[in-house]
Amino acid sequence: MTDTAAVPEAPKKTTLTVTIDGHSMEANPGELLIAAAERTGTYIPRFCWHPRMAEVGMCRMCLVEVSGPRGMSLQPACMQPCAEGMVVDTKSDVVRKAQDGVLEFLLVNHPLDCPVCDKGGECPLQDQTLTFGPGESRFVEEKRHFEKPIAISDLVLLDRERCILCDRCTRFSKEVSGDPLIHFINRGNATEVNTFPDDPYASYFSGNVVQICPVGALTAEPYRFTARPWDLDQVESTCTSCAVGCRVVVQSSGDEVTRVQGVDADPVNWGWLCDKGRFDFQGIGAPDRLTHPMVRLSKGGASAKVAWTDAIGQVGDRLRAYQPSEIGFIGGARLTNEDQYALAKVAKSVLKTDNVDAQLGDGLPAHAWLGLPAATIDDAAGASAVLMFCADVKEELPVLFLRLRDAAQKRVPIIELSPTRTALSAYARSTLAYRPGEAASVARSLVSLVEGGEVERQVGGVESSDLHGAADVLKAALASGKGNGKVVVVFGRSSLAETDDAVVDTLDILNGLPGVAFLPALRRANLRGALDMGLAPGMLPGRVSMADGSSWFAPHWGSVPVATGLDTQGMLVAAAEGRIRALVLVGADPLADFPDRALATRALANVEYLVALDTMPTASNTVADVVLPAAGYAEKSGTTTNIEGRVSNLRAKVSGPGL
Ligand code: SF4
Ligand code: SF4
Ligand code: FES
Repeated sequence: MTDTAAVPEAPKKTTLTVTIDGHSMEANPGELLIAAAERTGTYIPRFCWHPRMAEVGMCRMCLVEVSGPRGMSLQPACMQPCAEGMVVDTKSDVVRKAQDGVLEFLLVNHPLDCPVCDKGGECPLQDQTLTFGPGESRFVEEKRHFEKPIAISDLVLLDRERCILCDRCTRFSKEVSGDPLIHFINRGNATEVNTFPDDPYASYFSGNVVQICPVGALTAEPYRFTARPWDLDQVESTCTSCAVGCRVVVQSSGDEVTRVQGVDADPVNWGWLCDKGRFDFQGIGAPDRLTHPMVRLSKGGASAKVAWTDAIGQVGDRLRAYQPSEIGFIGGARLTNEDQYALAKVAKSVLKTDNVDAQLGDGLPAHAWLGLPAATIDDAAGASAVLMFCADVKEELPVLFLRLRDAAQKRVPIIELSPTRTALSAYARSTLAYRPGEAASVARSLVSLVEGGEVERQVGGVESSDLHGAADVLKAALASGKGNGKVVVVFGRSSLAETDDAVVDTLDILNGLPGVAFLPALRRANLRGALDMGLAPGMLPGRVSMADGSSWFAPHWGSVPVATGLDTQGMLVAAAEGRIRALVLVGADPLADFPDRALATRALANVEYLVALDTMPTASNTVADVVLPAAGYAEKSGTTTNIEGRVSNLRAKVSGPGL
């Protein structure tokens, strides 16, 4: 009798066994040989391959011998997925001859101007030539000469004769940042990398191509000829120019920051930085940095330099003389978490005022969103669907734009709820362009459609066909089983014309979507930390309301305010009306940064005592009674908290001015 019982299927192997240079190792299915080898300790030289970009097999530097049906053959390791039982030799004579040949060929045209090249000392071409190269060349012909350098943007310079045509910069700009402004032009021996005439490399992310160029063909104007790699000392830190919190190394030479480079933090920036974060270190040693405490001698009169003890003493004496309700603190989102905690304690416990706000009228009240189910950047990039309900993230959180663009291109459907087009609109599966102020009704209709309801012909300026389209995308995404099952809402104020109430109402409605989680698109660098540390009216450190937290804080801090204080708008109105008599600006410039400049002007003109802590002169601190210079980025250590709530460290690298 035939046994008809089904033969149980052998469990699928989740790893493959590959032998590299005689050592057996495990690789993941689909993993490229070059990555698997590196993960297990064998470095295969490469120029064109980059772990965060698609493989192209351009340079052939990674040739290794790989077993196949016809025996061992030379294969580019960056194009070769691992296979079960694969045998690889990375050091055979055949491989060495191939590496020799590739390098000799690359050096036919390369100028070998290493002593005057910025990349000298940290150049993969230099390093790999020394490690794997021939030692001498058989070519004696004249090298190519080009006009050098060409400024392809304000920040990036190109020395074409150094280029080895690896396709990294061109792939980055096309694949990663989506602004393909640098290309290969011409053919054959005349091939060169360049921009089109009159079309500069005007990208928000141009500094990344400098960092990933494996030779000195692309250099950054602010770094060029400022230091050599062996002069540099570095610390790993976090960028605080926006709230994404990209990991960086801050490099210095002679107590001056000379360069900031991206670090590949898998959950955050994947090694990429925007140009703001990469190049704004130039402000650290700016000649107009505030260096000494300044005190105004009489109202409206001139300011004079004073000793720190005198300035601090005067501020303490004056602030203590006011009633708590007459004092306000504006700002604090640029501080470290530790400074924010200290500031919250000084304001709320020592001076007993709850008039404290780290936002300048362009955010959302902390209590309205801190309790929503939270999402990380990885949650959004791996979501079943993403719903964008915020301003243009490319403008405000540039590297978050890169992560979301990448997710959209790979799989994740993006739905935009936005009155205007944004940089992500081109990648969105559906854009619901609502009339400003009517987001809540559009969101209500969308949630209703997802739940099987009906909608009117037009809602908030959006046609019902568009709403049906967006709801279908959401339903299909959730039913597909692809992604993490979440609908991640990236939210914020899309513009200052949108009131915070309208946004909060919309968030309440979107909270009804299945599997919803929220990622805030915060406008200020360490705003999340500021809210965590209680720099908001009615809040105490630890994201607790004053009502819930005062029983613990009152005995530990000595006292906490009982009445909820004013936000920035309220403080400025009160200052303009004479009810707030002393204002402290902590890294804040309401005259330039508060939406209602006329109100800010009246408030600062009318307030009796204005104290400002800052790093640079601003419109607001030039009218202050006391200006206290602060240590800035790379001048102090601490921690910062990004949009996800991720706490990462900040390291001091150079001395602050005035020290
Ligand atoms: Fe590669 Fe640099 Fe040439 Fe671009 S400029 S192709 S990154 S060598
Ligand atoms: Fe810095 Fe933000 Fe740019 Fe990242 S995205 S480099 S945190 S400014
Ligand atoms: Fe493999 Fe360039 S690194 S071909």
